[in-house]
Amino acid sequence: MYDFKPTAADPAELYRDLLAAADALTDGEPDGVANMANVAALLWEFLPDLNWAGFYRVGPAKTGGGDELVLGPFVGRPACIRIPFGKGVCGTAAASGATQLVADVHAFPGHIACDAASASELVVPVVRDGRVIAVIDLDSPSPARFTEADAAGIEALAAMLGPRL
Ligand code: SME
Repeated sequence: MYDFKPTAADPAELYRDLLAAADALTDGEPDGVANMANVAALLWEFLPDLNWAGFYRVGPAKTGGGDELVLGPFVGRPACIRIPFGKGVCGTAAASGATQLVADVHAFPGHIACDAASASELVVPVVRDGRVIAVIDLDSPSPARFTEADAAGIEALAAMLGPRL
C-alpha cells in the first residue's frame, strides 16, 4: 500500500512533497500508463479545489495523418478524447510547448469545455528529447485557482516525468 499524504501548507513545500512522492512511485517503472495513472491520483490527492487532473498524450490522429492529443489517465469526469494541436488550452500548450495558466477559461479563445464546472485551468507540456509527448492538465471549479507557484511546481513534475512516460 502507498500512503502519500499532503501535509504541507506552503506551496513550495507541498510541491516538493508531491515531486518526492511522484519520484518514488515512477522511478524504475517503464510503463508510462501506470506512471501517469499514479501521478494523476497523486495530483488529485495533493492539490485542493480541482475537478479534473490528468494527462493527454501525443498520438497519431484518427484521420488525416499527423498527431493530436489523446486522453490519458486522469481523475475527474469523463473528458474529450481527442484534441487537435492548437485547439483549446491543452492543444495550445502542446503546439507551443509553453505552460498555459488560465485564470478564466471562458475568456480563453477556443477553450474546450469538457466539464461545465471548470472555471480555471493549468496545462503544462511534458517534453522528451525536445518534443512534446504529453500535457498535464489541471482544472478547477474556482476562478484563478492556479498561481505561478503551481505552474513552477507542475513544470518541475513534468521535467521529471519526461523520460518516464
Ligand atoms: N479544457 C481543456 C480540455 C480538456 S478538459 O479540461 C479535461 C482545453 O480547453 O483544452
